[in-house]
Parts: sequence; structure tokens; C-alpha cells
Amino acid sequence: MPPGKKILIIIGSASENSSNQKLMEQVLEKTGYMNFQMYDDLSVFPHFDTALTDDDTPEEVLKVREDIKNSAGVIFSTPEYIFSIPGRLKNLLEWCVSTTVFSAKPVAVITASASGEKGHEELLLILRTLGAVTDDKHQALIKGIKGKFDSNGLLESNTFAKVSKLVTDFRTLFHN
Ligand SMILES: Cc1cc2nc3c(=O)[nH]c(=O)nc-3n(C[C@H](O)[C@H](O)[C@H](O)COP(=O)(O)O)c2cc1C
Repeated sequence: MPPGKKILIIIGSASENSSNQKLMEQVLEKTGYMNFQMYDDLSVFPHFDTALTDDDTPEEVLKVREDIKNSAGVIFSTPEYIFSIPGRLKNLLEWCVSTTVFSAKPVAVITASASGEKGHEELLLILRTLGAVTDDKHQALIKGIKGKFDSNGLLESNTFAKVSKLVTDFRTLFHN
């Protein structure tokens, strides 16, 4: 793996004050890891449409596909919405179906939600279908995420340690 490739972080939440975003920001800040790029607002991607030809593909979509393709790996951190993955995240993944951007791409999957089992399983299934590769140690289901921040918005230590370890382990895949 050439040095300098970024890890892409994709936040699945549709909320501005997202627990998943805070979780990832706090972990990345404390570990001092700088070589990442975060997509935290998936509303920028128009609805997937099979009628669009390659020439009509929206610029934002072309850009995220390039970012995924050129990344060392991708970390997803997302809540579950109605026993599934959030629509905006599904939409982004639909835009990637006819491409090879996830082929053999290492991915880590964090589902931080009230409950989250179904969404977690579903995201793993979708990513494997797209050709991505993932390992048990790069997956975490964190239940009751909203209760894991103190009154100052700081993530509690056990969850922090768990996610930090996952991110550190994931990074060692690329020696970066
Ligand atoms: C539209 C909607 C549907 C939800 N459905 C579920 C659900 O099925 N399972 C679950 O665990 N949490 C569900 N939740 C609650 C989220 O897990 C919770 O709001 C979580 O903190 C969201 O993560 P975020 O703060 O990163 O947005 C739902 C929230 C919304 C807004």
C-alpha cells in the first residue's frame, strides 16, 4: 500500500448534531491521526436514478467515487434507522453499485445507535456485495450511543477505548 493514502470516514447520520460524527471526531482527535477525510453530510448526493447515463452522473457522486477508489480504506460510522441503514447512506451505496470502487476495499463498520443490530448486519451484507473486505475486529455495534456522552459532550471511556482500538487496528493494515 503506497504511503499517504487517506482513510475515508463516512458518517451515515442525517442529523447535524450526530453522535456518530462526535464519536469519530473525538477518537480521531485524541489519537492525533490526521490522514483522513470525512464525509459527514450525505444530503449532498442527489437521489440515485438508473435513467442517468454515465455522462449525467452528478459531480458530487463522481468525486466521492474517486475518493473511495483512492482511499486506503473506508470507515463507516452510522446509526440504524427503522431497522435498516439510513436512506442517505443507502443512496450513496446505490451510486457505487455499477462501479468497482469498493472491490477489495478494506472497510471498518461501526454502528452506533439506540439498538442497531439489523442496520449493522445489513451494512455488512451490502458492503460485501459491493466487493469490500472486512474483518470482525474492524466491526463494532455500539448500543445506546446517545447515553454514552457526558454533560460536556465527551464520550465515556470504555466506548472511546473500543473505537480507538478499532481505528488503530484498521490503520495498521496500511502502516499509516
Ligand atoms: C428516522 C429515525 C429512525 C430511527 N430508527 C432507529 C432504529 O430502528 N433502531 C435504532 O437503534 N435507532 C433508531 N433511531 C435512533 C437512533 O439510533 C439515534 O437517534 C442515534 O443516536 C442516531 O445517531 P446519530 O446521533 O449519529 O444521528 C432512529 C432515529 C431516527 C431519526
